[in-house]
Amino acid sequence: MFFKNQKLNLLSNQIKICKKCRLWKFRKNAVPGEGPANARLMIIGEAPGASEDESGRPFIGKAGKFLNKLLEKNKIDRKKIFITNVVKCRPPKNRVPEDDEINICAKNYLEKQIELIKPKMILLLGNTAVKTFFASFELSEHHGKIIKTAKRLYAFTYHPSAARFTKIRKKIEKDFENIFELVK
Ligand code: URA
Ligand code: SF4
Repeated sequence: MFFKNQKLNLLSNQIKICKKCRLWKFRKNAVPGEGPANARLMIIGEAPGASEDESGRPFIGKAGKFLNKLLEKNKIDRKKIFITNVVKCRPPKNRVPEDDEINICAKNYLEKQIELIKPKMILLLGNTAVKTFFASFELSEHHGKIIKTAKRLYAFTYHPSAARFTKIRKKIEKDFENIFELVK
């Protein structure tokens, strides 16, 4: 447990000074992610936005506030989850991260975080996160579902920033209910 924590902190420290892809040039702060090393659930978004870049913390802006509401509604304690993103630095103007940025960042950091934490379930938020793990999956087909692989469960829904569209917000709310109902 102790060692796992240390390794996770070491990774965070490496992320904070990383220059492995072009995104380092645009960041104020890299956002490694946060949560306990023994988290059973990991939530993975796309990339830091403006508030996250300012603070170095994941999901604390508008999308983060909506995520907090979803977690509260489903009686999930945010402090027990490890929350992070596919890429750890904010892309300029919040553009979608490019394939090479995703490959470099996820190989070096996200994959290692997952290996250390070994979560029982990973909840993927939005297309970028989904495609990173399941290249051929369409969210329109898989949102709200849970699939089981040899290592763990994966669940899928839209990105909370898409909640500005009422239709999608309702889908996300229902997906969270379904997903956490199924794993209770
Ligand atoms: N959107 C994301 O994908 N991640 C964050 O941390 C914040 C907003
Ligand atoms: Fe490094 Fe990832 Fe930031 Fe690119 S996005 S500089 S790989 S931490």
